[in-house]
Amino acid sequence: MKKIKQIKTCLELEKAFGITEITLPGKTTRNTKQEFEQFRQTVLKCTKCDLHPTRKTVVFGDGNTLSSIMFVGEAPGEEEDKTGRPFVGKAGQLLREVISEFLPCDQVYIANILKCRPPQNRLPTRTEIGSCLPYLSSQIKFIKPSIICCLGSTATTVLLGKQSVTMGAIRGKSFQSIYGTVFVTYHPSFLVRRGLIDLPIFKNDIKQALIASGMIKR
Ligand code: URA
Repeated sequence: MKKIKQIKTCLELEKAFGITEITLPGKTTRNTKQEFEQFRQTVLKCTKCDLHPTRKTVVFGDGNTLSSIMFVGEAPGEEEDKTGRPFVGKAGQLLREVISEFLPCDQVYIANILKCRPPQNRLPTRTEIGSCLPYLSSQIKFIKPSIICCLGSTATTVLLGKQSVTMGAIRGKSFQSIYGTVFVTYHPSFLVRRGLIDLPIFKNDIKQALIASGMIKR
């Protein structure tokens, strides 16, 4: 009963984001790599929202599509927009350094809620999220990670289907959502802004997420 209520909340929130069609992640047949590549090529040409005229590149996401963990951030920043790769700027380097303490970074998959950079790195709007979320949903459906590690409050609210969250209260925990098992931690930009005082907590969260996914041993 709790799960039905949860699904209802998620669907209502997606509707509020303007989503009228959803691709449910589930145990359906895995699409072929070729289909996934065709899908990627389509996303790279996306003009669905108002971000396409100002972006340099669509940041689709990258990493191992066979991984059992997927990291999801908010949206590309300046470096990501230039290079077409997620999490390669200052915050991204920190995330990649922390992951690399446990396993090679290319063993995980990294993506964002939005595939295009919002001007001046402003927060994504509901309309932008509504346009872009079906892409992430399809990526999740293809990759089928055991754990989706949400980095920061944008990814967390969207993937948990909540209006808002208190990061301090829910970080380090896992939740069930229609997308699968969602593990919550801070966004690396938040750590950078706060002079890395929360780095030990973040490192431990990443370790716990990797253990929960089965990618590393306890
Ligand atoms: N912040 C994000 O949320 N994603 C990126 O790819 C880079 C910075």
